[in-house]
Amino acid sequence: MFRLAVFVSGGGTNLQALIDRIADNSLRDIEICCVIASKYHTGAQQRAEKAGIDCMVVNRKDFNSQEAYDEALLTSLADKNIDLIVLAGFMSLLGSRFVRMYENKIINIHPSLIPAFCGHGLYGIRPHRAALEYGVKVSGATVHYVDEEYDTGPIILQKAVEVKSGDTPETLQLRIMQEAEQIILPQAVALIAAGRVRISGRQTYIIGGEIK
Ligand code: GAR
Repeated sequence: MFRLAVFVSGGGTNLQALIDRIADNSLRDIEICCVIASKYHTGAQQRAEKAGIDCMVVNRKDFNSQEAYDEALLTSLADKNIDLIVLAGFMSLLGSRFVRMYENKIINIHPSLIPAFCGHGLYGIRPHRAALEYGVKVSGATVHYVDEEYDTGPIILQKAVEVKSGDTPETLQLRIMQEAEQIILPQAVALIAAGRVRISGRQTYIIGGEIK
């Protein structure tokens, strides 16, 4: 079994997509061993509990330094033999010690086509607000490896979604979640679990061509 830890902070729709794809066997030989929430009372935690997945809250606000938070996260994962950490709407930064301990084993889903509308302060609904203010006709989602900065690691998959006239940040967010995030996040997990993603500098290569 390929063992996932999923880090969350919000509603948990991306976590749910992973749960559903495991349940319907599109993701085979993959299990979610634990969910870690960066705050209390998230929808994501409820989804994990409903699915019978071990969920811990490691509340960012309980720690007054990045180092202390990293240490608590590392302790939560110790002895779990995690193969991949998936940041699925996780809104806290991971520090250098944590990222180095899990080098090339952390991925993130971001709700825009990176490098547009990403970086510090652009998370959740904000990238969609920024995209509409800018007037782009296409936005989308990106799955990328995580390094020590916000949204800068090598890109694994991206999917574009049309911006429609009359879109609000909320309608655009929903369409991007449904048409892009919930598709490419499970795909990226499947590719990595199958050993089909190679990283070379900023580039990633999918071995075996087209995604199946
Ligand atoms: C998703 O749109 C995700 O891409 C975004 O937050 C939302 C979480 O939704 N993540 C970021 O902005 C990270 N930079 P969810 O909790 O329902 O999966």
